[in-house]
Amino acid sequence: MFFRDGHEVAEMPEFQLGSLTSRWAIPFRSSQLRKQYWKIAPAFPKVEVRYAATGHQALAPDLSEETDMSNRSEVVIRDLVKSVREVLRHHDVTFEEYRAAVGFLMKYAKAPEFEIPLTCDMLFNATVADIEMTHRKGSVSNLEGPYFLESAPTITDRIKTRDEQGEALIIEGRVTDLSGKPVEGAQLYIWHADPQGYYSGYSDDYPVDLYRGKKIIGPTGEFSVRTTMPAPYTIPHDGPSGELLGFMGRHPWRPAHVHFKVRAPGFIELTTQAYFAGDKWLDSDSVEGVRSPLVHAPGIRGDAKLLKKDFVLDPA
Ligand SMILES: [Fe+2]
Repeated sequence: MFFRDGHEVAEMPEFQLGSLTSRWAIPFRSSQLRKQYWKIAPAFPKVEVRYAATGHQALAPDLSEETDMSNRSEVVIRDLVKSVREVLRHHDVTFEEYRAAVGFLMKYAKAPEFEIPLTCDMLFNATVADIEMTHRKGSVSNLEGPYFLESAPTITDRIKTRDEQGEALIIEGRVTDLSGKPVEGAQLYIWHADPQGYYSGYSDDYPVDLYRGKKIIGPTGEFSVRTTMPAPYTIPHDGPSGELLGFMGRHPWRPAHVHFKVRAPGFIELTTQAYFAGDKWLDSDSVEGVRSPLVHAPGIRGDAKLLKKDFVLDPA
């Protein structure tokens, strides 16, 4: 079972995006042409965006060097333009509306540079994670978001929190390969918002060792980590990204969630999230990242909520 844009899809025999069928489908079904896709990926330097509560910034790529515009980009961009033209015709868009749309895009030129990657992530990041799952058999991946930090402290059984705040949460599970064999030595990164919806490590007065940690998985593959329940939060919405959400009649909230990243030699890196059943924003996530296999109904253990979360890694 696969999930795309929040909807279940029985199987994924080929790749389809609305009317973008033929020219997209062929490259994804052909392993040779799929390699072309991966080949072009590094041709465009990766944008790293960070939009913390304080200190918004985006590390823009250096596009001064010549890029390798392969056939892959040619077919993708052509189909993208074709699709937009179909929308314009379908909705009988007028010159006045067209100029207004261009005027809106001009706002990005004057906005902080993180607004462009924010809008792209808001609209398309989760879809790319879904596409990646069509090539995997392990745990469902999900968007990373902008708050991952390599410098997270190594932990044993507890993530450091501000103890006086928040409801306790225990996260436990196993890290295995596709056959169920434990992946000893895997690095499991866990990070999440605090009870006010903020992430650590993005301002001088909020040290990186709070609400995040890196657990080294032992020989049984099992882990159990205590932390606190994260709170829902809004993505930055005082610029054009927020205005765009407003055009679509949407709000900027994300449901409460915990982020995970699992790394182990010989395996594909897994980045995913866990959401909580009953969350007010589950069905209207501003970045449309919620997928049903990632929604968990927490149990109770003592004074804490209990989140069971296993990670199954695909071989590299
Ligand atoms: Fe997040």
